[in-house]
Formats: sequence, structure tokens, C-alpha cells
Amino acid sequence: MNTIIIDKEKCVQCGLCVSDCVSKCLDINQNNYPYMKEENMCLKCQHCMMICPAGALSFNDKKPEDSEPVKNDDILSLIKSRRSIRQFKDEELSEEEIQKIKDMLPYIPTGCNSHKLHFSFVEKKSVMRALKEKVNQTFIKLLNNKILSPLVSHFKVYKDCFEKGEDIIFRDAPHMIVVSSPITAPCAPQDPVIALSYIELYANSLGFGTCWCGYAEICIKLFPELSEILDIPKGYTPVYAMLLGKPAVKYQRTPQPEPYTISEIKDVVPKDSCIWCKTKRLLMNFLRG
Ligand SMILES: Cc1cc2nc3c(=O)[nH]c(=O)nc-3n(C[C@H](O)[C@H](O)[C@H](O)COP(=O)(O)O)c2cc1C
Repeated sequence: MNTIIIDKEKCVQCGLCVSDCVSKCLDINQNNYPYMKEENMCLKCQHCMMICPAGALSFNDKKPEDSEPVKNDDILSLIKSRRSIRQFKDEELSEEEIQKIKDMLPYIPTGCNSHKLHFSFVEKKSVMRALKEKVNQTFIKLLNNKILSPLVSHFKVYKDCFEKGEDIIFRDAPHMIVVSSPITAPCAPQDPVIALSYIELYANSLGFGTCWCGYAEICIKLFPELSEILDIPKGYTPVYAMLLGKPAVKYQRTPQPEPYTISEIKDVVPKDSCIWCKTKRLLMNFLRG
């Protein structure tokens, strides 16, 4: 059960919670207050609670007054305050601003110090628009084709959005960074993700907004012409993508995330597992890797 509770005394009916909801599960009721329309679609990201300028929206049992204010004056505050930005200003970063990110790249660690990453920087809004057009048109064609549509069945729920020209993949971001690694690199799948994590935090410290973009990654892998536009060198595989730009939204407070599980290992406790359990674990370890 996912729900939102609105303090009507505080709510200024600005609609920011609705427009920032990634899964479009909130809507405005007849009295102009937000309500949870599609609770099953909710990602529990708490953006609705964090963006509310009046602190009027509680998400499940999380109350806005229990969150911390957004700050980025030290690394922990930055980690807590960074958000996935899906609403960008219609404005490119300057060359100098992009250069600051490029200057940081050589300091990013890679497995065995291979230093073989390739970074594709989309620097112009016109290129982002061209990517969006290509992807939207291709999805419309694929989804309308009865034989091919199972290939992209995951995207069926977005058919309407593609047809309306909504940019649900690249979120109308002015820039994107795609990181590729050579298939032969010792840590080919890990290095690009580490690189984007560094980029994400550094970009946020500079006041820019970012969004990890798994959808862009799928599109780049599905449609080879995108790799050509992105100038991905031969022998390199595009691994992950991140949207970048100036945020058009401001979050007022941090999330109250659920904790991860942690094992606190302070002693060697022999577990007498059977040979079958050990084999299963070995197989699982390699399958996961
Ligand atoms: C690996 C990864 C892939 C993601 N892919 C997308 C994506 O394709 N589109 C999108 O809007 N958000 C994407 N996100 C953002 C998540 O939905 C987001 O991190 C989550 O909802 C929590 O919100 P927050 O980052 O603002 O805390 C991705 C995040 C990660 C870590």
C-alpha cells in the first residue's frame, strides 16, 4: 500500500508533487489537491514529499518534518541531497562548465588501472532532440508491429507517451554522458558505473542535475545507429548513460530511505553447509557476476 497524506492547511496546490512523479501515479482531485491514483506504479522514491515547498505532503509513514534540509556543504550532505532530475531547464551548460567535468575524468579509478574508458558527451540540445526523435519513432514503429512488439514489450505502457512526443527516455535533458569500455578491459562492466558515480556527485556539487538512465542504455544497445551518433569507438561497448543539465526543480528535504541489509562480521563462524549448498552458491556467485 502506497499512499500520500495531504495537510490541507499547508498545501499551496502548486502541483509540483504531481509533475515530478516519475511513474505518473499522482493526480489532482476535483478540489485541487493531489491524491494517489495508481499506487501500484509508485517507486517509493519520495520525490513528492521532498519537492513540496510547503511541507504539506507525507508519504506512507514518512513525514516531511522528519527529513533533513537539502544541503551540499559536505560529501555526506551531498550524497543525501542528490536526486534523480527528470525536469531540466531548456538551457545548455557552457563549455567551461562541461570542461570542469572533463577535467575530473582522469582521476576516476579503473580496474588494474586500465584507464581505457571512453566518454561520449552529448553537448548540444539539438543532438539530444535528434536522439529522442529517432528513439520515439522507432518505438512507435516497433510497438505497432505485431511480430516485433514482444521485443520491446516493456515499453508498451509508454506507447501513448511516445505518440504524444513526450520524452520519457531522455527527459528533455540538454546533455547526456555515455561511458563505454573495451570488452577486453579487466573490469569492463564495473568501470563505467564507477565513473558515472563520480560524475554524478561532482556534477551535483557544481549545482547541476543528473539522472542515471537505464532506458537510454537499453536504447543505445537496441539501436546501433545511436552508437554511431555517440561516436563509440570500435571494440568498445556502451555500458551506462547519465542525463545532465541544470535542474528545473528544487527539492526542499532529503528522503527517508529504507535501510539496506548489513551483516556485521566480527568472528569466523564455521557454517557446516553441504556440498550441494556450496556448489549452488558457487554457481550463483558466477551467474550474478
Ligand atoms: C542504475 C539506475 C538506472 C536508472 N534508470 C532510470 C531511467 O532510465 N529513467 C529514470 O527516470 N530514472 C532512472 N533511474 C533513477 C531511479 O529511478 C531513482 O534513483 C530512484 O527512483 C530514486 O530516486 P532518487 O535517485 O531521486 O533518490 C535509475 C537509477 C539507477 C541507479
